[in-house]
Amino acid sequence: MALWGGRFSQAADARFKSFNDSLRFDYRLAEQDITGSVAWSKALVSVGILTQDEQLTIEAALNDLKLAVLENPEQILQSDAEDIHSWVETQLIAKVGDLGKKLHTGRSRNDQVATDLKLWCKQQGQQLLMQLDKTQQQLVSLAREHQHTVLPGYTHLQRAQPVTFSHWCLAYVEMLERDYSRLIDCLKRLDTCPLGSGALAGTAYPMDRTKLAHSLGFASATLNSLDSVSDRDYVMELMCTASMSMIHLSRLAEDLIFYNSGESNFIELADAVTSGSSLMPQKKNPDALELIRGKTGRVFGSLSAMLMTLKALPLAYNKDMQEDKEGLFDALDTWSDCLEMAAMSLVGMKINEARTKEAALGGYSNATELADYLVAKGVPFRDSHHIVGEAVVAAIAKGVPLEALTLAEFKEFDVLIEDDVYHHLSLDETLAKRKALGGVSPVQVEFALSNAEKRLEER
Ligand code: ARG
Repeated sequence: MALWGGRFSQAADARFKSFNDSLRFDYRLAEQDITGSVAWSKALVSVGILTQDEQLTIEAALNDLKLAVLENPEQILQSDAEDIHSWVETQLIAKVGDLGKKLHTGRSRNDQVATDLKLWCKQQGQQLLMQLDKTQQQLVSLAREHQHTVLPGYTHLQRAQPVTFSHWCLAYVEMLERDYSRLIDCLKRLDTCPLGSGALAGTAYPMDRTKLAHSLGFASATLNSLDSVSDRDYVMELMCTASMSMIHLSRLAEDLIFYNSGESNFIELADAVTSGSSLMPQKKNPDALELIRGKTGRVFGSLSAMLMTLKALPLAYNKDMQEDKEGLFDALDTWSDCLEMAAMSLVGMKINEARTKEAALGGYSNATELADYLVAKGVPFRDSHHIVGEAVVAAIAKGVPLEALTLAEFKEFDVLIEDDVYHHLSLDETLAKRKALGGVSPVQVEFALSNAEKRLEER
């Protein structure tokens, strides 16, 4: 039964009904809709619409309904109700009779849906915070394990300077830390309750909206009824936060796919997150990581769809806004799945330390050290850069690394080069030198690592 039949003499076209109905996706708001309805029934007592006893009857019926829904949410999909709000109300009326028809007094589905969606976002947000934390923990424990595992660092996908695996892990810990704090910010900003804003102009029943907001666990009530029912900033912000975090996860995925390639051979991913080829028996494909990389696009897609939908919508509620849910649900589900898969991929992987070290030693990634060495001898950096460039060309022609050049050969490039150059070109020295804050020296990495461990522990 539709909630609004009185003005109509003909039934809705079946095709329009299925186009218009949102139950098939907003059934996920059932728990929130029931929670909101219980709070609303209490507010109705405060304005004399329901007696205490009536409220208790309604509350008990709604709580029963909530239990049934939590047990089997899919049962809702059997109904032909227009949306989750109609479904809950119809179920209530079936349970308590005419009394149930009083619940919608002073309320509109417009303030109701905004409240439900915010409650859902708050719950989902907590879950995502936990998952971000878990993925960070995984990175931090890998970093702890691999403080001395050398890894080539890249720019332009060319070996640039050696780093450690630990330092690489901690870079992603930083990114996820920003995601974490961005999500906290969103959750703080959305923590205002629209209920009691009516359809657009505010409810006509003089209730204490602040009390109502607090009873639902919101920090405060929204302050303008027009804005309350038409604001979807929180949907956009959450999707934007999801998108930025997916950028981080996709970069993590891409790094690992590259490290896992036959050409790099730096890591071997666990069987648990890889798959085989139906044709080529030798293959072990990084599917989990490729899907993280691939699914990033669909999260961006949901964000841009929402931006387009809201652009230039007149105040206040318009049915266009029903388009907010599928994209939001999908974006947050996808983000959550990808966080889990990223953490799983990190758990089981093996690192081929001999190979990462060999790669870090090759590719002339200590060329900058030679340039700095000459700087220490008084050569201006621009000149030393040029001199070292020539030395690299010579070493490439001989097919050897820089440190394999003899002292006599070095002296052809600059007479200032002495025997101590070999120490400066060593891997250990290259790493140890970078001891300014944020650098790759073992001292700084230990500092960053223990800070990250502390931060996660205290959270
Ligand atoms: N299903 C609707 C939505 O998701 C609920 C609000 C409907 N309000 C209305 N006046 N038709 O946006």
